[in-house]
Amino acid sequence: MVAYELSSNLYCDEFNQALFERIARDIEKKGYSINPAALPIGLSAILFDHVIQMSGSKFENAGIGRERQYMKNHFVRSDEICWINGESDAGTQWLNWATQLQAYLNRRLFLGLFSFESHFAHYSPGDYYKRHVDAFNGKTNRILSLATYLNPEWLPEDGGELVLYRNQQDRDGIRVTPVLGTLVVFLSEEFPHEVLVSNQDRYSIAGWFRVNCSIENRPDPPL
Ligand code: OGA
Ligand code: MN
Repeated sequence: MVAYELSSNLYCDEFNQALFERIARDIEKKGYSINPAALPIGLSAILFDHVIQMSGSKFENAGIGRERQYMKNHFVRSDEICWINGESDAGTQWLNWATQLQAYLNRRLFLGLFSFESHFAHYSPGDYYKRHVDAFNGKTNRILSLATYLNPEWLPEDGGELVLYRNQQDRDGIRVTPVLGTLVVFLSEEFPHEVLVSNQDRYSIAGWFRVNCSIENRPDPPL
């Protein structure tokens, strides 16, 4: 998997500008941002088309390889994933959009976000991802987490909600329906979250903005 390097001199259009500013304000104020029907519709549509026509063989069980370093054990999650590296038109458009968000947040919040990694995830009926944090203090360079959903219809009985906990003590959390275009952003180290058992095929993208932790001879994020 190749981390996608991002350049900074990018424009963003008016639609994204309003969305990005909302995210920046939320992150500044409370550390997370939940935005229903927020992703540009054209982008959601191309990502949805892409993910449903992707061959199942492109997905691998989550919790192997790269993802494993962020997990405490193997029973935490049962979904399957496919890293997005810009091989497809849909993947490229997604990475371009994320690049714009990164540039905006760096200008606005001085976060020093350096690169972005993301994957499609597919939860089959019965799949889940137990309560976890995306970054462990001191052990990682994941700064900001992002999730968006690729399910045009989602009913309450379909389950599979994302539950975002406001802090380590929070047991109630905020439930997010994984419906097309909803976009969730939060500080990776501060917000435990989980995916409740899904009763339907559930498609999402999870992504992380990282800072550069490279030291001599050891690129981190890896090249
Ligand atoms: C993750 C994750 C949430 C979701 O992949 O780390 O928390 O709603 N995903 O898919
Ligand atoms: Mn997570």
